[in-house]
Amino acid sequence: MSSDHESALMSPAVRPSWNDLPQGLREALTQRLGTVHEVVMQSGGFTPGLAARVVAETGRAFVKAVPADHVLAPKYRAEAAVAELMPVTTSAPRLRWSGDLAGWAVLVFEDVEGRHPDLAPGSADVAVAVAGVAALAETLTPSPANVALSSEARGGFLHGWGELLQSGADGLGPWERDRLGLLAELERVWVPHSAGLSLVHGDIRPDNLLIRSRQSHNDEVLLVVDWAQPSIGATWQDVVDLIPHMIMAGHAPVEAEDAVSHLRAWQELPDIVITSYCVAYAGYWARMSMQPPPPGVPHLRAYQAGAAKAALAWARARID
Ligand SMILES: Nc1ncnc2c1ncn2[C@@H]1O[C@H](COP(=O)(O)OP(=O)(O)OP(=O)(O)O)[C@@H](O)[C@H]1O
Ligand SMILES: [Mg+2]
Repeated sequence: MSSDHESALMSPAVRPSWNDLPQGLREALTQRLGTVHEVVMQSGGFTPGLAARVVAETGRAFVKAVPADHVLAPKYRAEAAVAELMPVTTSAPRLRWSGDLAGWAVLVFEDVEGRHPDLAPGSADVAVAVAGVAALAETLTPSPANVALSSEARGGFLHGWGELLQSGADGLGPWERDRLGLLAELERVWVPHSAGLSLVHGDIRPDNLLIRSRQSHNDEVLLVVDWAQPSIGATWQDVVDLIPHMIMAGHAPVEAEDAVSHLRAWQELPDIVITSYCVAYAGYWARMSMQPPPPGVPHLRAYQAGAAKAALAWARARID
């Protein structure tokens, strides 16, 4: 792993600190939350918006904010709309307030004292993450929110080999270059199989998962944050999304599949759909990693290159 990639994983997003925020926003947040005593900026994710755990006069809260005219502001508003409709039984932080403050789109959530799961081989967090993500479907079927279908929302971007085939495939390794036509065909097969009635998170990664210890129960629960890419579809998508992240964390592809193989959602999936889905992820990440970095998000492309490598290892394990 290159040092660039390591730093990408440690601190992917370049986010503003509390003191960087415009005074108007700080004052408006203080009006809403009371005097802010403590602010801990969060570094997970890639969005260059504010993400902070705060201790204020009215209690603890997690605050997300982005300028209201930022290209990502609609995602923040979409997240707020979904969070408002989330059943209280879903294992996700409760939304306390959302709206515009001093020209920023702001979301205020219940604060979660937790940690990101370690998805490395042998980690006990793997089972907690798998069970927690699989359990989402219990409270999110049928979907409480009327959002786009997975086939449109996710099928619209989760591919890449077709584009790489057209653009000349510079920068690809020999394995994928020799099979570009096949990969471009395969990456579309999963799309109709994404149909279903559940609310799908669509962005399951360790930094969007928090494990909270419950001393009263002597156990740990998984909370799923960052519902900014919701869609309506089949529940297997969120569960299977853990696999490339387990591979990035050191699992062999077959071991990562073993970790979800007890789930009905996995057992009911035709082999070709799984193969297509991992090929789609590999193509998407490979295509994206070759784009110029978006302004303010310098580490994203290195992360995507690492993710493409993991998804490609998974695809090769299934195809070869
Ligand atoms: N309710 C919460 N309580 C405490 N910490 C949280 C909470 N929600 C999120 N976090 C932490 O803040 C980080 C960023 O939050 P989130 O993923 O919602 O923001 P984002 O700006 O949309 O990030 P991304 O770049 O992933 O889109 C998470 O990785 C997590 O560590
Ligand atoms: Mg996130």
